[in-house]
Amino acid sequence: MSSSTRHYSLFDQLIHNADQALRTLVPGAAQEYRPSPAQQRDHHELNETEARHAAGLMRINHTGEVCAQALYQGQALTARLPEVREAMEEAAREEVDHLVWCEQRIKELGGRTSLLNPLFYGLSFGIGALAGKISDRVSLGFVAATEEQVCKHLSQHMTSLPVQDEKSKAVLLQMLEDEARHATTALDAGGHKFPLPVKLAMTAVSKVMTKSVYRV
Ligand SMILES: [Fe+2]
Ligand SMILES: [Fe+2]
Repeated sequence: MSSSTRHYSLFDQLIHNADQALRTLVPGAAQEYRPSPAQQRDHHELNETEARHAAGLMRINHTGEVCAQALYQGQALTARLPEVREAMEEAAREEVDHLVWCEQRIKELGGRTSLLNPLFYGLSFGIGALAGKISDRVSLGFVAATEEQVCKHLSQHMTSLPVQDEKSKAVLLQMLEDEARHATTALDAGGHKFPLPVKLAMTAVSKVMTKSVYRV
């Protein structure tokens, strides 16, 4: 029986969602599918200030990935069409890679992941579930708009990272490629193109996230 035709009870769903939340939020609990691109780059020494800055940026990207996991989980809970889930399944798998790669890099830089992650997970889960409830088109449109936002951050971080931090940059470069593809996939699957005011509101919200997570 395929996963799309199997009927899950509410209890199954709850257990599955709790399991996914723990996998995302507990450091070291998620498993990557592709090895980190950082492994192919040479290690260059960073001074304390540079390492702290790089860890702060990678912490923002890690929290972004925590939000992505929650968003997909929330959506999967309420999405009507199984095709929508299937279309986004590969994207969701790639997000796990991003999550793990960022976490590994933060560790190497001597930092830790954000203490605010459970809060952002909860918020994103709620938004994802709500968007899925409204319609699949809105839900997919939300993914596309979020990915565009993420791509902007990634590009900014690429230039803001210390020049010699090739390992972090390699991670961000692969993420940038993947996220741009996720945005296209979501739109191709029927995602609604969000109007500018909605995108601006999302930018404002993401500023609050990045400012707080860089430090905490
Ligand atoms: Fe991602
Ligand atoms: Fe993505």
